[in-house]
Amino acid sequence: MKITSQFLREKYLDFFKQRGHAVIQSASLIPENDPSVLFTTAGMHPLIPYLMGQKHPCGTRLTDVQKCVRTGDIEEVGDDSHLTFFEMLGNWSLGDYFNRQSIQWSYQFLTDPAYLGLDVNRLSVTVFAGDDDAPRDEDSAQTWQQCGIPADRIYYLPKKNNWWIAGTTGPCGPDTEIFWDTGKPACGEHCDPSCDCGKYLEIWNNVFMQFNRQADGTYLPLVQKNVDTGMGLERTVCVLNGYKSVYDIDLFERALQTIQQLSGKNYGADAKTTRAMRIIADHVRTATFLLGDPVGVVPSNVDQGYVLRRLIRRAVRMANSLDMPKGSIVQIAQVYVDVYKDVYPELTDNRAKIVDELVKEEEKFSKTLVAGEKEFFKVISHIPGNVVPGGTAFKLYDTFGFPVEMTVELAAENGYQVDVEGFRQKFAEHQAKSHAGSEQRFKGGMAEGGGVEITRLHTATHLLQAALRRVLGDEVKQKGSNITTERLRFDFSFGRPMTADEIAETERLVNWAIESDLPITCEEMPLDDARKTGAIGLFGDKYGQVVKVYTMGNFSKEICGGPHANSTGELGHFVITKEQSSGSGVRRIKAELHSK
Ligand code: SER
Repeated sequence: MKITSQFLREKYLDFFKQRGHAVIQSASLIPENDPSVLFTTAGMHPLIPYLMGQKHPCGTRLTDVQKCVRTGDIEEVGDDSHLTFFEMLGNWSLGDYFNRQSIQWSYQFLTDPAYLGLDVNRLSVTVFAGDDDAPRDEDSAQTWQQCGIPADRIYYLPKKNNWWIAGTTGPCGPDTEIFWDTGKPACGEHCDPSCDCGKYLEIWNNVFMQFNRQADGTYLPLVQKNVDTGMGLERTVCVLNGYKSVYDIDLFERALQTIQQLSGKNYGADAKTTRAMRIIADHVRTATFLLGDPVGVVPSNVDQGYVLRRLIRRAVRMANSLDMPKGSIVQIAQVYVDVYKDVYPELTDNRAKIVDELVKEEEKFSKTLVAGEKEFFKVISHIPGNVVPGGTAFKLYDTFGFPVEMTVELAAENGYQVDVEGFRQKFAEHQAKSHAGSEQRFKGGMAEGGGVEITRLHTATHLLQAALRRVLGDEVKQKGSNITTERLRFDFSFGRPMTADEIAETERLVNWAIESDLPITCEEMPLDDARKTGAIGLFGDKYGQVVKVYTMGNFSKEICGGPHANSTGELGHFVITKEQSSGSGVRRIKAELHSK
């Protein structure tokens, strides 16, 4: 039986819906209140507050298909398995059922003929072997055995394999992982699911989240025991069909066909062509989802915008190497909008933006790509040795728009290296000169105690939006928000720069609200009722039908997931540090809270 992505999505959600789970929408690819990551990299990111004990409006059992972007292995894309965008199927217990129930359901979903009907003889599992932080997970092993997995296919592995955490701090716990036996012979006596010889492929990860890892490396118990399971959609469809490559699944079929038509070359003709076509197929898909996201990103030189630019430009360079005509990238993006039209209607809603931004970016870069490559080859024909100087990489970046990673890749293709440190120095000198250094890249990890700062800044964001609407009018609507431990950043629709007086008045209103120490209350209600109260709501019914409405005195009423301070007096003194453009018709404010 051929398994399609839609078949797996439907079966999965249906199975958990029948077991009391509320189906929730995928959250945005851009985390709204988490400064430690640029993108949503796992289903748990948007759910962190609820894993920590906050009440979720849809209850304690949830199931979803979450859009994720991971660019850590971007260099590997083009091989059989790596992708920068994927969908994660998940089921969640927020302090409700725990490991036994989770395992029993996973087993049933995988083996029951009404669902996947997989051959139990081809399933193996791993469980946590135990250490000083948490005990050996005999209980999960026993549950697997009761389900029908024989003891010799249950493996105990250490933290390195069987513990899940996003980053270095936060909710985490031991997990049990489920593997599919591809039928390849074992590579040796010690071949087990932790081996990467290709015999065992992971299809599902059930995490029993019950700890909160602190910055000092200690583990505190969470207020509740949760289950977070994750099944990568593309990967599982590939594995279950017995395909060799994830690019063989239904989701890539039409895009790869289009790439072949546009290039006049055959996918699979040779390794280089295959790799280039896969990179195009992957990067254009990710770019389409980032541009089409309800929060949305546009190409730029910092943060998420930089990653997006890198993806698009790399796809353009690969397309050029396959002699594809200008405009190809947009055509492929259009194919994806169609492929995903029923599952992610936001792509269709944002089709014009996707097309527009891709046309602009491709246009901009095509102009300099050929000249930049020429410059590169001129330089390498003159330099002694095989290291491209940092100054050259900077010129390619500054004059020809080559992301430094592209220069590194181009160099590698020709047997050269790049002095990346030298590039960074030139870059820093240039930034100091142009005073452009105030935009900071995100840093990994959140400072200890940062949660309080973030909660305050998040609360201040509500006051800011309310103040802006009073000063500038109702045309002001949130377009994006990002909070680090140091500052808030708020993007909103407004057609012109704010005047100094408007900025001062906005600041004054927010500080007035803080000094008035307004109480902050939260009520849960159906979305329609919330709208009737006049609450402003930003991202539709992302949280399902019942929503939380946060009220701050008479000043602000907003639909939001929280968390928030208890009263506005806790915030400190509010200072706007920057007001600037963030694309056409969108302004961006950065602001800080200073202690009084
Ligand atoms: N958080 C786990 C993962 O991403 C399970 O969802 O693998």
